[in-house]
Amino acid sequence: MDNLGPSSGPLPPTESKPKPPKKKSWKPSRAAKILIAAVVGLVLIASALFLILGRSAGLATAPGFLGTRAGLFADFNLLAEILQLAGLTAGYFLVKRGNYAAHQYNQTAWVFFNIVLTILIMEVAFNRQVVPGIPEKLLRTYYGVATVHAMLGGATILLAIYIVLHRNNLIPKALRWKKWKLLMQIALALYWAVGLFGLATYYYWYVAPREATGAPETAGVAQAGRLPPERRCAALGSHGGDFGGVSIPGALAG
Ligand code: HEM
Repeated sequence: MDNLGPSSGPLPPTESKPKPPKKKSWKPSRAAKILIAAVVGLVLIASALFLILGRSAGLATAPGFLGTRAGLFADFNLLAEILQLAGLTAGYFLVKRGNYAAHQYNQTAWVFFNIVLTILIMEVAFNRQVVPGIPEKLLRTYYGVATVHAMLGGATILLAIYIVLHRNNLIPKALRWKKWKLLMQIALALYWAVGLFGLATYYYWYVAPREATGAPETAGVAQAGRLPPERRCAALGSHGGDFGGVSIPGALAG
C-alpha cells in the first residue's frame, strides 16, 4: 500500500543503540504491477465463471466432498473461506516484516475473492433459505446464526472495501480516516469473527441434527442427491429450497 512506511520527521533524541537498518521493502516495477493485476483479475473471473456456469449445470446440487449434508458449493465455500482466512493472516505478517507492496496485493486479492464467494454462493443461499424466515424464525439456531454471520459479514466487506479505496487514494480526503492501520487490524479481527460464525453456520446447517436447529424440514438436499431419483422426492418432501447453494425448482423454504 502507498505511504505505509513510518512517518518522516525529526527523530527524538535517544541513548539506546541505533536500530539496524530495515530490510528494503520490495517495490514492484510497473510491468510487475500489471502482471499481478492481470493474474488476480483472471483468477477472480475464472472463479466467478466456475460458480455461475457450475450452478446452471447443476454442480451446486451435487453431493459435497466432506461427507456432511452439504452440497458441493457449500463444501467448496468452506474450504475457500478457510484458505482466505489463512491468506489474510499471512498478509498481516507480510506487513509486519515490512513487505508493504506484497501485503497490499495479497489483502486486496483476498478481499475481492471473498466478495465473489459472497455474491455467488452465500448471498444466494441467504436470500433463499434465511430471508423468508425473517423475523419470525430468527430465534431458531438455523436462522439466527446465519443472520448474525451475514450482518457481520456484510459490515466486514464494507469496511474492507473502504480500506482498499482509502489506501489507493480513491476516496475524498475529508472521508479518509487517519487511523487506517487500526482499521486494518479491526478488519482482520472481523474476518476471523465472521469466519467462525461461518463455521458455526456450516455446522448447524449440515452437521447438527436438523430437529435441534429449527432447520426447514427439507434441508439436507445433498444427502437426497446421493439417493436414487425415486427416493429423492421422499427425502425432500413436497418442498424444494436452496441447500448449500442447491436450487430445486418450485422451491419453498420451510
Ligand atoms: C467477511 C465475509 C464473510 C466470510 C469470511 C464468510 C465465511 C463463511 C464460511 C466459512 C461459511 C461456511 C461454509 C458454508 O456453509 O458454505 C459461510 C457460510 C455462509 N455464509 Fe458467509 N462469510 C462472509 C460473508 C457473508 C455474507 C455477507 C452473507 C450474507 C449475504 C453470508 C451468508 C452465508 C450463508 C447463508 C452461509 C451458508 C451457505 C451455504 O451453506 O450454502 N456470508 N460463510
